[in-house]
Amino acid sequence: MKILVTGAGGQLGRALVESLGARGLTRSELDIADADAVRSLLSTLRPDLVINAAAYTQVDEAEADPAGALRANFEGPRNLAETTDELRIPLVHVSTDYVFDGNARKPYVESDPTNPQSVYGRTKLEGERAVRGANPRHYIVRTAWLYAAWGQNFPTTMRGLADRPEVRVVDDQTGSPSYAPHVARAIAALIRTEAYGVHHFAGRGHTSWYGFTKRLYCELGIQTPVIPVTTAEFPRPAPRPAFSALGTEREPRIELPPWEEGLREFASAVQEDSK
Ligand SMILES: NC(=O)c1ccc[n+]([C@@H]2O[C@H](COP(=O)([O-])OP(=O)(O)OC[C@H]3O[C@@H](n4cnc5c(N)ncnc54)[C@H](OP(=O)(O)O)[C@@H]3O)[C@@H](O)[C@H]2O)c1
Repeated sequence: MKILVTGAGGQLGRALVESLGARGLTRSELDIADADAVRSLLSTLRPDLVINAAAYTQVDEAEADPAGALRANFEGPRNLAETTDELRIPLVHVSTDYVFDGNARKPYVESDPTNPQSVYGRTKLEGERAVRGANPRHYIVRTAWLYAAWGQNFPTTMRGLADRPEVRVVDDQTGSPSYAPHVARAIAALIRTEAYGVHHFAGRGHTSWYGFTKRLYCELGIQTPVIPVTTAEFPRPAPRPAFSALGTEREPRIELPPWEEGLREFASAVQEDSK
């Protein structure tokens, strides 16, 4: 099967290219918001399936740049959905836990009502709707708290802060940390099915950013004290859901390993890289 991955320079894009042996298109090769470029390149390459891992992912910056966020998170997926529909091929589109408001007490499943609180979350939800409306052969994969041994992400930042006397980390936001290679593996299993629609693929279980950091430092043998703080002590431009753990109600059941296992693999990958 000939698979194309857009946003191939990003965390998940790179994991998808590696685990699927797919052809990756970075932003410089394809700007998904350029409808003509999308139509012309896909018509030339004639893939059997497209996976969209491109997005505007800077949650705080999006608050002051809604047009930029809309371009990548709504116009891009819409273009991809229209063209893949014309080509009669499926589209996998990746979305986020931030489409939820965070007021739940148990993990969100696919049929739970959305209610995004940030520009990023709203534009991602617009993207989901555009995909659903334009190509019936769509898989919408919502993931959460994504990280890899490459790219910009929370554990990489926390690793970089370990030489401080102590680190202060938010303990009142809960989510499901998801290791990009695990998400890529789940997507590889999903595309062997015709289970179209929304799927939640996130590390099994949930924790807070504080719990995530404690576990990370433990895996890396870092002794720096980790101090739990509240969101109110760390004001940011974009509101975050207080609770956005993801669960699934979909069949066939495709689940990621527990989040702790992702962190273990991350720790051994970054330790290997720094040898
Ligand atoms: N990161 C998370 O914590 C998280 C959580 C939940 C869901 N997600 C979703 O998971 C997916 C992958 O996220 P990620 O963390 O892998 O993102 P990422 O590392 O930020 O990568 C996104 C990639 O998309 C590219 N891009 C942006 N606009 C584009 C455009 N118009 N055309 C083509 N490429 C464009 C970016 O290029 P530049 O670097 O040049 O801008 C970047 O290479 C996204 O759909 C995201 O919304 C992420």
